[in-house]
Amino acid sequence: MRTTLEKVWGALLLATVLAIAGCGSGGTGGAAASAPAATQLAAPSALAATGGINKVTLSWDQVVGADYYNIYWSTNPGVTKTSGQKITTATSPYLQTGITVSQTYYYIVTAVNDAGESAPSSQAATVVATDGAGLYQNYCANCHGPIATTSIKEGTPDNIRAAIAADRGGMGWLSSFLSSQQIDLIAQQLPCH
Ligand code: HEC
Repeated sequence: MRTTLEKVWGALLLATVLAIAGCGSGGTGGAAASAPAATQLAAPSALAATGGINKVTLSWDQVVGADYYNIYWSTNPGVTKTSGQKITTATSPYLQTGITVSQTYYYIVTAVNDAGESAPSSQAATVVATDGAGLYQNYCANCHGPIATTSIKEGTPDNIRAAIAADRGGMGWLSSFLSSQQIDLIAQQLPCH
């Protein structure tokens, strides 16, 4: 009877020691496995910026291990992470809209993950819609035909503004899309400017 009890206690003690040892090694193993996961990311390469009408499309090569990218932009060359305006959690390709016509924009991009932010890419730059013919094609050609044979008779900036203000032929919506500068650029392409 006494011998059996000792054996039972012995077995329980052994099981307890094994259980503690098991927990201990398991915990240490888990911490060690998660620690070295995050490594410093490479800087994004092949950044390209393409200007359109009031918009810019940016693209760059994917960086292995990146969760997302930060874009920094400026209207001054030599943009840095501190001088640029930041757009966070971006992915490639990225479309930036609602920006000023005839303006040059400068960009850099960084890659981000748990380890932090990479060094910046080299700078890319583009000009947004300096092109009056492109603006005409985008905003006017549907109703007035190709620019070479446009139905517009007097394409002065004042006449264009007046036609928009008077909502001639339903042109009123253009007031929220065309800046004064863009109207001037279109007028330069039209007869009687
Ligand atoms: C939704 C159709 C539509 C669009 C888009 C449109 N127009 Fe017009 N526009 C008209 C119509 C219709 C008239 C009236 C034509 C007339 O009175 O003979 C007109 C009249 C004008 C006139 C005054 C008449 C003239 O021929 O000189 C000007 C200037 C003009 N448009 C310029 C433009 C410009 C520039 C754009 C692009 C920025 C544009 N329009 C886009 C439909 C349009």
